[in-house]
Formats: sequence, C-alpha cells, structure tokens
Amino acid sequence: MNQHTDILAIETSCDETACAVIRDGREVLSNVIYTQISMHTLYGGVVPELASRKHIEKINTVIENALTESGLTLPEIDAVAVTYGPGLVGALLVGVAEAKSIAWAAGKPLIGVNHIEGHIAANYIEHPELKPPYLGLVVSGGHTHLIIVKDWAEFEILGRTVDDAAGEAFDKVARAIGLGYPGGPKIDAAAKEGDPLAIPFPKAKVHGSEYDFSFSGLKSAVLNYLNHAEMTKEAVNRNDVAASFQKAVVDVLCEHTILAAKEHGIRQVAMAGGVSANSALRTAMTEACKEAGFEFYVPSPVYCTDNAAMIGVAAYHEMMNGAKSGWELNAIPALRLGER
Ligand code: KG4
Ligand code: ZN
Repeated sequence: MNQHTDILAIETSCDETACAVIRDGREVLSNVIYTQISMHTLYGGVVPELASRKHIEKINTVIENALTESGLTLPEIDAVAVTYGPGLVGALLVGVAEAKSIAWAAGKPLIGVNHIEGHIAANYIEHPELKPPYLGLVVSGGHTHLIIVKDWAEFEILGRTVDDAAGEAFDKVARAIGLGYPGGPKIDAAAKEGDPLAIPFPKAKVHGSEYDFSFSGLKSAVLNYLNHAEMTKEAVNRNDVAASFQKAVVDVLCEHTILAAKEHGIRQVAMAGGVSANSALRTAMTEACKEAGFEFYVPSPVYCTDNAAMIGVAAYHEMMNGAKSGWELNAIPALRLGER
C-alpha cells in the first residue's frame, strides 16, 4: 500500500499553464510548466482572453505530462489541488473546472488553494528546516506583502503596497525603457551591465506606515527622468536606468523586511513570488539577513515564478489541517491572503 500523500496540483491563475505532483508536501515528483510568455510578448503584457484560451488548449497535455513524469496514475493520486484565486478570472476558471472534473471523476478530494499562500509554501520544497513562525516577504506581479507566517495557514499582514506591486513596477519601467515584456528578468539582466548609483531615484516611504510599500512614485520618477532626457536631447543609458531603478526597489524591500524582523523579534526570514527570482534582490537580502544574524530562505528561481509545485505543497498543509473544498468551488479573482 502507498504510505505517501500524493497531490496533483494545477495552476492557471495568469500566463503559466502548470501541473505538478507533490509527495508528502515536499518532494516534487513532477513539475510541468507551459509558459505563454512568447504569445503575450507580442502585445507587451498579458492579454486575459488569450491567456484563458491558451490554458484550455494546453491544460490536458500539461496534466498528462505531469502524471507521466511522476510515475503515478490518477487512481494512485490522493487529492487534486487547484489555485482558485487571486488571478485572472477566465484563467482561474479553466484550472478550477479542470480540477473539479478530474477530482469528481476519479473520486478524489478537491483542495482549493490561495495563490499567494502557494508562493509562500514554495519555500518548504527545498528548506525542510523552515517552519512557522517566520517573517515572509511576498513579491510578485500582483502582490507585495510583508507578513508574519504564524502557522502553516495563518498569516498576519504587517505591510503591503499601497499602489503598484513590485513586479508591476518592474514590468512598467521595463516597458518605458524599451526592454519589453516580461520586465523583471529583462531589468535584472540589463542592470548587470549598469551602474546602480548612476541615478538617485527616490526610495518611496508611505507616510505613517513603516512597513507599507509604494512603487508608483518611483515609476513616475523613472518616467520623468526619461522625459527630461528626451527634451534635453541627453543620451539615456538604459542599463544605468535599470540598475538604479532596481536598487531603489531592492533597498526598500530589504530595509522594511529587516526592520519588521527586528521589531517583532523574528530571526527567520523567507522571501517568495516572481520578483524573488531577481538576482540583485536575492544577493542583497542574503547579505542584509546575514548582517542582522537572521536565517534567510528563498526558493530556487523556478519555484519563485508561477508553478504548480508550490500549489501542491500549500494544499498538503491545508489537507493536514482538515481543509477540503466542495464542488461549488469557484474562481475568486480578488481572493486575499488568509481568506478561504
Ligand atoms: O509570481 P509571479 O510569477 O506571478 C504573479 O503571481 O504575479 O510574478 C511575476 C512577476 C512579474 O512582474 C515579473 O516581471 C517578475 O515577477 N519577475 C521578476 C524576475 N522574474 C520575474 N522581477 C525581477 N527580477 C526577476 N528576475
Ligand atoms: Zn504568482
């Protein structure tokens, strides 16, 4: 008899069609990701309707490949997990409908997973020693949250962005300097060739709230810099703009995280979400935590950006808590962290 808990997890909240099989909440038996990036690149960003259609086209193959790679068959799976929010409604609906159909047909429990909680859970794949309570920083295309992870599924939000998410700022600035979509990895690469001290962009603080973030002022400062250079016919060094912008984001993320950990007496810090794949942020946070005497955790880049492995890991902890979704499970595009 199989003594393991094997979860088939599906993720379609944005522009990645993904399926994974996760053993005992940690071991990745398979992790298949079909990325739609090349299609959305043509339009300079994610086109929601096209994303949904592509998910429908690819999802069955992605699931079949994930099962084959895991070496398991559907009857051997113990539960089917799926992201049901937050995300693009049409995209989420494809995954939710698919997961419900498979779970119902195969007689398996269904577990709806919050995408942000999935990002946080990505850290458990490679860091068995990481256990709540710890301080978490979630930085993705849609979210920027500084949180205390009190228990596997219990979160206290200390700070969040009051305007753009960190990833959104990367994407908008990349577009402004002509690097295109997806902005994060392009800025990361360009910044390696630039001088982070070339342009003193502002580090936005939110008045009266030491843990909140604001990135729209920084984005405007970059746009103003570019407009001014155009008017005065000064040459713009895109690599310097990328490096200086990136430094402004990285500095503020590190400062708030270290301050929150110190003020709450927490010595473990974990980072997650697409932007945590950023090489400068990984280096800066590693150094800041080392200097403060904190343990620092971040997933490998493949588990930072959207994937289904993280959804399977989060589902495992939900399952161990006794959580199970009903057949009425629906997509909730604006689902908040900690919400069921
Ligand atoms: O977590 P994610 O894959 O999807 C959401 O849940 O939003 O995050 C996507 C975001 C995008 O804004 C992308 O530009 C950013 O993560 N990103 C990066 C890097 N790789 C992805 N940002 C900075 N540096 C990177 N290397
Ligand atoms: Zn995500």
